[in-house]
Amino acid sequence: MNKPSLETILVPAEFGQLPKRDLSSSICVVFDVLRATSAMTVALANGARAILPVVEIEEAIAATGKYADPLLAGERHGFKITAGKISFDLGNSPREFTMEKVNGRTIVTTTTNGTRALRACMGAEQTFVASFLNLGATAKVLNGFKNKSILLVCGGTYEEASFEDTLAAGALAHLIGEGVHEWSDSTHLAAQVYERHASDLFGAMKSARNGRRLLEIPELRDDVAFSLQRDIFDFAAVMGKDGMVRKLS
Ligand code: MLT
Repeated sequence: MNKPSLETILVPAEFGQLPKRDLSSSICVVFDVLRATSAMTVALANGARAILPVVEIEEAIAATGKYADPLLAGERHGFKITAGKISFDLGNSPREFTMEKVNGRTIVTTTTNGTRALRACMGAEQTFVASFLNLGATAKVLNGFKNKSILLVCGGTYEEASFEDTLAAGALAHLIGEGVHEWSDSTHLAAQVYERHASDLFGAMKSARNGRRLLEIPELRDDVAFSLQRDIFDFAAVMGKDGMVRKLS
């Protein structure tokens, strides 16, 4: 019997193929370390009821009408969105999603890559929202699945591969291992990049376009070190069939 696969999607150009694939028996794990999935993880840790990731700004604004007490969040070019007279409540810095702001609230968010990656995975049996912040908890749940193919989806940076997301995918691949799964070449690539930089993830940001960009912006630079913290949260997060991201209960 063939082993289930552990495949890694490295570049956003591959997102378009995902809805055309039969992922109904596969598990997707989306990474956007800087910063969408890190921000979502923090929001859930601080009591956000649920998070709706959408692709377009107009879609986000329209979606708020469905909720009693929504917050608009996200970024374009890294900064909080202002659309006409509407200024979003939050940007995409994980450090903004404090308990005071998000506890009990439903968040609608749109980001450059992370929300696109999540929406592309809607056909999967389950889609996890993962980051370094909750990597161990995510791996623990995944290792409970027997014989499920897993797709690690890197959000990327604009249309390019993202070094930080590739590092996180490689770290998760190591936690899943090769005992059950047949690794794709792209998973071997991610795992070997992680092996090389595991001892100094912050130093590895020299090779990350998004990391370098954020580090040059005074009000955003602390997001990088924050988002590279390992396992500060002990829960996994999943996107349900309704498209909402929640803590896995
Ligand atoms: C993305 O979705 O591409 C990132 O989250 C961008 C960012 O947060 O600056």
